[in-house]
Amino acid sequence: MQYNFDIQIDRSQNYAAKLEESLLNFGTKEVIPLWIADMDFRTAQPIIDAIKARADQGIFGYTFRPDDYFEAVRDWQRRRHGYNPDVKQMAFAPGVVPSMRIFLNLFTQPGDKILIQQPVYHPFADIVENSNRTLVVSPLRRDDSGDYTMDVADFELKAKEGVKYFILCAPHNPVGRVWSKEELKEIGDICLRYGVGILSDEIHSDLVFGGNQHTVMATVSPEIAAITSTFISPSKTFNLAGLQASTIIFDTAEHREHYLKTLKEMDIARNNCFSLVATMAAYNEGEEWLEQLLTYVEENMQFIGDYCRQYLPLIKPNKPEATYMCWLDMRELKMGDDALQEFLVKKAGIALSQGSSFGQGGQGFMRLNAACPRSTLEKALEQLRAALS
Ligand SMILES: Cc1ncc(COP(=O)(O)O)c(C=O)c1O
Repeated sequence: MQYNFDIQIDRSQNYAAKLEESLLNFGTKEVIPLWIADMDFRTAQPIIDAIKARADQGIFGYTFRPDDYFEAVRDWQRRRHGYNPDVKQMAFAPGVVPSMRIFLNLFTQPGDKILIQQPVYHPFADIVENSNRTLVVSPLRRDDSGDYTMDVADFELKAKEGVKYFILCAPHNPVGRVWSKEELKEIGDICLRYGVGILSDEIHSDLVFGGNQHTVMATVSPEIAAITSTFISPSKTFNLAGLQASTIIFDTAEHREHYLKTLKEMDIARNNCFSLVATMAAYNEGEEWLEQLLTYVEENMQFIGDYCRQYLPLIKPNKPEATYMCWLDMRELKMGDDALQEFLVKKAGIALSQGSSFGQGGQGFMRLNAACPRSTLEKALEQLRAALS
């Protein structure tokens, strides 16, 4: 089936956070919302069909998760990433962020050190700080051409100071890197050396472009696999964030048992009836849609790059290897972060995510969500150009 990602869909009647929370976050709804990470595209038809069939039955009782569910997760990982996890290592989770928070609560103590690499998806810092653990930051390095790498020496210095867990973002949001196997091995070996466990957030691993290949951290070596829990979800890949379902592939059987017991005690161990059928349809039948989506998003990134080179030379977008996020270097505009945000909202009428919210190294940057029809991007960039001139 051929999908058309150019179609504009009116989301104003479906309680979309992207629109409704613009008022809360930017003081107005009169902005093109290119901030929170969901897509303005309809998902794959097999997923829509599965949800419709489920809705048509009209019974929305408690669900039972069949073996097919985690087998679909495993088969997807095998096909797309060459990773062959045992379904017995897997557990349901109501989202990546809540489950990382539960993990930290269960397997670390207040005050324990948790390492992250900023700039990075800001809930990493939030879950650490909100659970009274101690945040340790190893900043990424950015070279003059705008490429990001890990600062391995700094990472080791930080890791050896009694860090309990490292939260890896692979591929990386917001800088769009697909970490190579060599890079992952270097930091994975450091974690092994100093007894640091790894929470590997691989939620963006299916959204990889241009011949890049995602490496699952747990495939780098058996030793690294033994200290790594992997967090995945169809939510970014297939635009299903509102269904709130993800999977943890655990490091050890003990951790999995303990986690499952906690989920049961909280009575949040079941899928809702839509996430159950949507997850299986996505992983079993969503590939055709995903391939077309990746081509479209990659062309969107190209469009942003070309537009900025031609009309907005002071703004330097990255060309992400993965994710539908474009990381815009706006430092040459020489505005402070708050003034820049105000300018973008009030003068240009666009809502982006502020770079500084991603922590160290984010100042002067903005993150733009490019998972929208090209005409939306064009309008946003034209409004920006008009405001700047
Ligand atoms: C790196 C990363 N992890 C997790 C999430 C959110 O996952 P969930 O909605 O399953 O909590 C996002 C959303 O943008 C993300 O970028």
